[in-house]
Amino acid sequence: MSVFLNCRRLVVGVVVLWSAAGLSANEAFDPPALYLTWQRDPTSTMTVHWHTVEEAKPELFVRPRGSAEKWRAVSGKSQALPGSERTVHTAEISGLQPRTDYEFCFWPGEKAFYFRTAPRDLSQPLRFVTGGDVYHERGWMDTMNALAGKLDPAFVVIGGDLAYSCEKASKPENMERWDHYFESWKKHARTADGRLVPLVVTIGNHEVPGAYNQPPERAAVYYTLFSMPGPRGYNVLDFGNYLSLFLLDSGITHPVEGAQTDWLRSALAQRRQAPHLVPVYHIPAYPCVRSDQEGESAVITQLIRKHWCPLFDEFGVKVAFENHDHAFKRTRPIRGNKPDPNGVVYLGDGAWGVNLRKPDRAHARWYLQRAASIRHLYLVTLSPEARQILAFDEQGRVFDEVYQRVTAADSAAEPRAETPAGS
Ligand SMILES: [Fe+2]
Repeated sequence: MSVFLNCRRLVVGVVVLWSAAGLSANEAFDPPALYLTWQRDPTSTMTVHWHTVEEAKPELFVRPRGSAEKWRAVSGKSQALPGSERTVHTAEISGLQPRTDYEFCFWPGEKAFYFRTAPRDLSQPLRFVTGGDVYHERGWMDTMNALAGKLDPAFVVIGGDLAYSCEKASKPENMERWDHYFESWKKHARTADGRLVPLVVTIGNHEVPGAYNQPPERAAVYYTLFSMPGPRGYNVLDFGNYLSLFLLDSGITHPVEGAQTDWLRSALAQRRQAPHLVPVYHIPAYPCVRSDQEGESAVITQLIRKHWCPLFDEFGVKVAFENHDHAFKRTRPIRGNKPDPNGVVYLGDGAWGVNLRKPDRAHARWYLQRAASIRHLYLVTLSPEARQILAFDEQGRVFDEVYQRVTAADSAAEPRAETPAGS
């Protein structure tokens, strides 16, 4: 039974709960789910999510790690998690310094957790981990979450299909899957010295009953669990002026075409000088298993090729992370839907902790350079001059590498009138 010490100032009855649980007041509040993400500037903010099954005040306390400073109280909000007894608490900590360690707790003097803000620039290389399609089997998920933590990344970005809570439109969402997902994340996705790693996500078809072309309201659980940066569904997270992470909704709860594409065009145009423009989304433009011609997701594949890939080409994107097909793939550089040495390399295809599928052999599809049935994650290392992307298998072995130099040509040559972002 979980006990929620942070609400004790408000709820006297909690003392009774402690006693009933046989716990002493010294035992620390330890929420069943605790995860970090960003809604705004990763160099100066951190959003903390945690769950409780009892009433609790959405409040935490923060200070620089290891300091003797007075704890600063940060208040947030609470939302009932649909279909669950849990409440999701969200507190955004702001006014932080870049590349600085902070500790937080739910009551001063109790168990503290710690995180690190993103750096202001790339004077030291920045590492992040990405992948998708996380949880078929608990053991696979645990192994890969632990590997992600061990790689000591600044953050992890998951491109959809996290808990597989939605399997069939006719069945209610399986909330136990989310409980397991967050239990694994909290326990395993930590660095060697215990730092919590921020988790940034995009939506996949298993986050919503009905899979594709659904209204956002159908994904109420997902949108309650994760604060997005800005408007729900899709947006961009800017790290200083060196990395813009485009978190896209590949036709799950927002159409590819229309408003999202219009927003993407203006958002990319405004960031064309950034050295690293990185889109992450679920359904691949260049799938390695599923057909790119037939089937529900092929319709979305074609829409992404038509509406997003030309924008990637125009504005200097050089790598895009795709998911959904449960295998490893690396495409040839592609520009204008043809092989081109100056094109975009599409990496995927979502095999964090799922049953593997057999991809088409590389020569069977013009766009594939390499494809294989390997559970994996990517470790991306950014410097001002280059990005290195290593693919790790579940044994922690590097089995593929992409190295791209950042050149002036990465930014589109012709200036373009900026249009306001929005969605
Ligand atoms: Fe999927």
